[in-house]
Amino acid sequence: MNPVILKIGGSVITAKDSDIPEQAKLADIDRLSHEIASFKSESDSKLILIHGAGSFGHPQAMKYKLNEEFNARGTYITHASVKKLNSIVLDSLNNAGVPSLPVHPLNSCLFDNGKLVSFQLEQIKVMLERGIVPVLHGDVVMDRTKGAGVLSGDRIIPYLALELKASTIGAGSNVDGVLDEKDEVIKKITPHSFADMKKHIRGSASADVTGGMLGKVSEFLELANKGISSRIFNASRKGMVSRFLYGEDVGTLIADK
Ligand SMILES: Nc1ncnc2c1ncn2[C@@H]1O[C@H](COP(=O)(O)OP(=O)(O)O)[C@@H](O)[C@H]1O
Ligand SMILES: [Mg+2]
Repeated sequence: MNPVILKIGGSVITAKDSDIPEQAKLADIDRLSHEIASFKSESDSKLILIHGAGSFGHPQAMKYKLNEEFNARGTYITHASVKKLNSIVLDSLNNAGVPSLPVHPLNSCLFDNGKLVSFQLEQIKVMLERGIVPVLHGDVVMDRTKGAGVLSGDRIIPYLALELKASTIGAGSNVDGVLDEKDEVIKKITPHSFADMKKHIRGSASADVTGGMLGKVSEFLELANKGISSRIFNASRKGMVSRFLYGEDVGTLIADK
């Protein structure tokens, strides 16, 4: 069966706009785990979860300028930080009754000059066959040319969606969807309509090294061009992840037409 891919933004599960790094929003993480647990108990859908780094990763990657130059210590510090968040998410999911295991992109992905050139998927496939939710995250990844680079959770989505032929794809963030100039949710974005909307879509309001909303929309448009649609919705609101998982029309749909 084709898997569902759900990405939860770092903005949802960490206090991303606080000056104090590494504060996980435990109540939100537990709420999401319970929404996922109740979906998993009623459905035999395979699910892949990806989470962002939020304040476990972005401030560290910024401090060590990982987008500009290779820094071995910064690479370690950033990976160690996001791994802490990943452990918190996994504890919460497993405690809520969702069998889940970590998959660290540092160990399964490779960049060449910033481009994702390999991704080991076999472990993920075995987990899915066994009903386990693989939990990936934004991470640092070794780069054949540059030494290392930052792989955002948003960029993992199109890669996995294409390789694993995902059926339902969505990113839960801290906004109700992609917003227009009046802060109203744009119900649908296509590669055609994007040209007009692009000027209203920006990066993140918080410390973010990976492109914020514009980065997300760009990744999803790439998928839309290949005929695969996806959604951006608000996972900070109670019940929205559940509604997304059940296939409801939430947030912004990004589709080819
Ligand atoms: N047009 C837009 N619609 C919605 N959000 C936008 C828009 N332009 C910029 N943003 C910013 O992008 C943020 C979401 O991106 P990001 O912080 O990277 O979230 P995540 O943690 O979910 O990856 C929003 O909180 C908002 O500050
Ligand atoms: Mg982001």
